[in-house]
Amino acid sequence: MSSSSSILLSLIFSLFLSISPNTARTSGKLRALVLPVTKDRSTGQYLTAIGQKTPLRPVKLTLDIGGKALWVACDRAEYNSSTYRPAQCNSPQCKLAKSKSCDNCWDGPRPGCNDKTCSNVVYNTVERSAQIGELATDVVAFQSTDGANPGRNIRAPSFLFSCGSLFLGEKLANGARGIAGFGRSDISLPSLLSSALGISKKFTICLTSSSKGVLFLGDGPYVMQPGRIISDRLSYTPLLVNPVSTAYPIFENFPDQSWPSMEYFIGVESVKVNGKIVELSPELLKINAKGNGGTKISTVVPYTVLHTSLYNAITKAFTKSISKVPRVKPVSPFGTCYKASSLGSTRLGAGVPPIEFVLRNNVTWTFFGANSMIYVNNSEVACLAFVDGGKKPRTSIVIGGHQLEDNLLEFDIVRSRLGFSNTLLGRQTTCANFNFTSKV
Ligand SMILES: *[C@@H]1O[C@H](CO)[C@@H](O)[C@H](O)[C@H]1NC(C)=O
Ligand SMILES: *[C@@H]1O[C@H](CO)[C@@H](O)[C@H](O)[C@H]1NC(C)=O
Ligand SMILES: *[C@@H]1O[C@H](CO)[C@@H](O)[C@H](O)[C@H]1NC(C)=O
Ligand SMILES: *[C@@H]1O[C@H](CO)[C@@H](O)[C@H](O)[C@H]1NC(C)=O
Repeated sequence: MSSSSSILLSLIFSLFLSISPNTARTSGKLRALVLPVTKDRSTGQYLTAIGQKTPLRPVKLTLDIGGKALWVACDRAEYNSSTYRPAQCNSPQCKLAKSKSCDNCWDGPRPGCNDKTCSNVVYNTVERSAQIGELATDVVAFQSTDGANPGRNIRAPSFLFSCGSLFLGEKLANGARGIAGFGRSDISLPSLLSSALGISKKFTICLTSSSKGVLFLGDGPYVMQPGRIISDRLSYTPLLVNPVSTAYPIFENFPDQSWPSMEYFIGVESVKVNGKIVELSPELLKINAKGNGGTKISTVVPYTVLHTSLYNAITKAFTKSISKVPRVKPVSPFGTCYKASSLGSTRLGAGVPPIEFVLRNNVTWTFFGANSMIYVNNSEVACLAFVDGGKKPRTSIVIGGHQLEDNLLEFDIVRSRLGFSNTLLGRQTTCANFNFTSKV
């Protein structure tokens, strides 16, 4: 980090984001925050909730781990808060967001529409759109955690966010009023909360399709009932920086397009099905000079999406490995389906051969039935839960939500490494087993 940006960060810390006195006085160093994460059935999106505004209200947000910032709907009369402060042109907030704009708004003043403020471009990864929102600060609130239960409430009084419009975001899950961005940017939630609250710049997701999963910001341990300290036994692989922006090129020559990608990439070096290496083009597995190819992790894609050639090779190896099981007519968007009863079920899901992503140093991430198969048609049909992404996708492998569920994933931004647990079902627990009963 350059010295000017660290000075800027400490300035932001002391001026805008310091912990309010009544929470700072409570004993014990804050180690981590905890957020609930639920899955929206109809969209496959994962939703989280934070407290925001004065008076404090819960705000439901779609979780986008590769997202740039927090953005919240500020459509007319929607946003009402006595502590809302638009970011004045050329203020440290505008600089942190790398925003050089200085805008007036004919329709205000109101949240999202004030004169002499800077704006921020926010990406709606779900909608595949971008929009300009007023940059602003307001109170946000979270629950702290010791890793096993939620604890006292923590406030960041002047948290930077983008005041956007849901006009363009109608593809968000029902009830979602914005996007919580956890990407590699100076204004994402992990970056701002780390400087505001002194917690480590890392976050951990544990998603589930049933009831309530969990997201931690800061350091472990992370404990799932019954008393499993999941953070003890993680495998690690480097997080790779794609040097080319993968944000949507909505605006020609827009500055964001010259930044490295804010999304989290890992290096898949080969794929095994039933223990055997599948022949795949090494070129597709690498991130090339134009930023194409490689493997990223996404919480806004419900199923892993593969370049056609990878999809065909993996599907072929998979169907070959269980060629004796009769296939049934595929259910869109999947291409390979079986009668569920003919596969049987195991503790790790449908009884199918494992699919392994082999990462650097032969560290492997293994997908058993619970993550590789999806039950459809009233659970009568089980399909291979991978989707054909066509012949020219930007990224060759996008590991999506279904493959992430019941796996604990720790994104350590400073060390640039991913810690992952592999399926928790093998350890007799799930991501739905965090004890959300508060212990203050
Ligand atoms: C905003 O909230 C205040 C106090 O809670 C209330 O008096 C006011 O009418 C609200 N304004 C709008 C536009 O809803
Ligand atoms: C699944 O259900 C859909 C709609 O009910 C039906 O059209 C399709 O044939 C079913 N597929 C299989 C393989 O049973
Ligand atoms: C990885 O495993 C393969 C066999 O599965 C072996 O041939 C190769 O040497 C191993 N590579 C490393 C770096 O350990
Ligand atoms: C959850 O945590 C609460 C508070 O510590 C505790 O009383 C309760 O027994 C825990 N529940 C389970 C199932 O362990």
